[in-house]
Amino acid sequence: MHSRDHALRLVYSSGEIAARVREIGAAINAEYAGKPLVVVCILKGAFMFFSDLLRELTVEPQIDFVRLASYGDGMRTTRSVSFNKDVELSLMDKHVLLVEDVIDSGHTIDFLLQQLKARGAVSLKVAALVDKTDRREMFVKPDFVGFTLRDGFIVGYGLDYAEEYRELPAIYEMLPG
Ligand code: IMP
Ligand code: MG
Repeated sequence: MHSRDHALRLVYSSGEIAARVREIGAAINAEYAGKPLVVVCILKGAFMFFSDLLRELTVEPQIDFVRLASYGDGMRTTRSVSFNKDVELSLMDKHVLLVEDVIDSGHTIDFLLQQLKARGAVSLKVAALVDKTDRREMFVKPDFVGFTLRDGFIVGYGLDYAEEYRELPAIYEMLPG
């Protein structure tokens, strides 16, 4: 069934997102100037942020993708994470920047950091479009953050609810009911 009968409230407009992405891009350019960098997109949610962010980068990165499997596709946070698709590039002697859509409980990014730690990267950092702080269970602090939210379930700009809403150019809170 195709149903999108949720009430949505605009949280970050496409203009606000673009402005933040430019700022994060500048911070990343300053951090990695002259260093070999691999930027890793965490599929699917980060794809739009990732592609906009890449266009701001002057540091000539290589890019790769990971896809993680977690149980459920609803609003509940996931605790059990595994790889559906690993990175394909060698991370040996590279600086690695993971690009994530939302950090909520922290389990997803914690899993990835643990997995990639043993790959020989010089550094391993995280850029998150939205850092949702209230339900954090693992100690993870993203190095580059677009927006900080306490709570609420958001969709659009790559973020989904049950695979819907990813194509929207702005970010909305899904209102309960
Ligand atoms: P964590 O493992 O609890 O940190 O959750 C991170 C993952 O859950 C992200 O990769 C998102 O795909 C998803 N997620 C968490 N909060 C939201 C949200 O508000 N909207 C859409 N996806 C979310
Ligand atoms: Mg996701």
